[in-house]
Amino acid sequence: MYKSQQIQPELDNLLPETLPESIEIPEYLSKTYWWAYVSPKAIKFFDRHFLVNLILFGNFKRLRDAAIRRLGEDFSGKVLQIASVYGNFTQRILDCMSVDGELDVVDVVPDQLSNLRRKVITQKRFNALVMDSSDLKLDSESYDKAILFFLLHEQPVEVRQKTLSEAWRVLRPGGRIVIVDYHKPSKLNPVRPLLWIVLKSLEPFALDLWRQPLESWLPKGMNGNCVHRRTFFGGIYQKMVFEKPGI
Ligand SMILES: C[S@@+](CC[C@H](N)C(=O)[O-])C[C@H]1O[C@@H](n2cnc3c(N)ncnc32)[C@H](O)[C@@H]1O
Repeated sequence: MYKSQQIQPELDNLLPETLPESIEIPEYLSKTYWWAYVSPKAIKFFDRHFLVNLILFGNFKRLRDAAIRRLGEDFSGKVLQIASVYGNFTQRILDCMSVDGELDVVDVVPDQLSNLRRKVITQKRFNALVMDSSDLKLDSESYDKAILFFLLHEQPVEVRQKTLSEAWRVLRPGGRIVIVDYHKPSKLNPVRPLLWIVLKSLEPFALDLWRQPLESWLPKGMNGNCVHRRTFFGGIYQKMVFEKPGI
């Protein structure tokens, strides 16, 4: 089991409706990813388009657009983004979403959501919710779409499984989940050795996605319902789309 650490969120940074009494930052985040996602200085430093793009070997825009395109043309309904993303990812979802759509973004780090709320400009319905992806305090079958962009590789196996299970639970029958994350590159990919070193030293759970297919962590019901898959950049990244049967 992974452990977690209790912290008090910076109260004046949060919208009242998103304020939990206290929030638990999972240990894998506070210990492994403090330098990237938890410390306010890290958030300020990393939330730059050129840096996110560099980390993805120049593929940020391509992967962002490939993921959002799979939400549909001018999509509406309730959309759930599971975990914040640096750069203009959320802004892009909002720009593509129809005026009667609604976007909820959940993240377990309150400062991530404060940062997101500062940078997003929209007239559309948008909520930032402090929540752990492995224990979503959201009604079952209440979302039309869900999107996970480079979250799963950060999580230890049991958290990853719960995150996928929760995403599937909150999805309505007929709803769709889009996932973009790492994937095992082809042997000939010249970036492969460098990426292996980076992931091995900085992102200890990410190499799981080289060893096993994403299907390994899917909940019952989700497996077998993949409607689209594609890899990018010599196999380094993957996109998978799932649809919940029932309509
Ligand atoms: C989506 S991932 C990485 C995305 C991408 N590398 C980027 O450019 O930002 C980063 C986010 O996931 C969030 N996160 C990690 N574990 C989480 C969990 N269990 N529940 C909710 N959010 C989580 C972190 O707080 C962070 O904001």
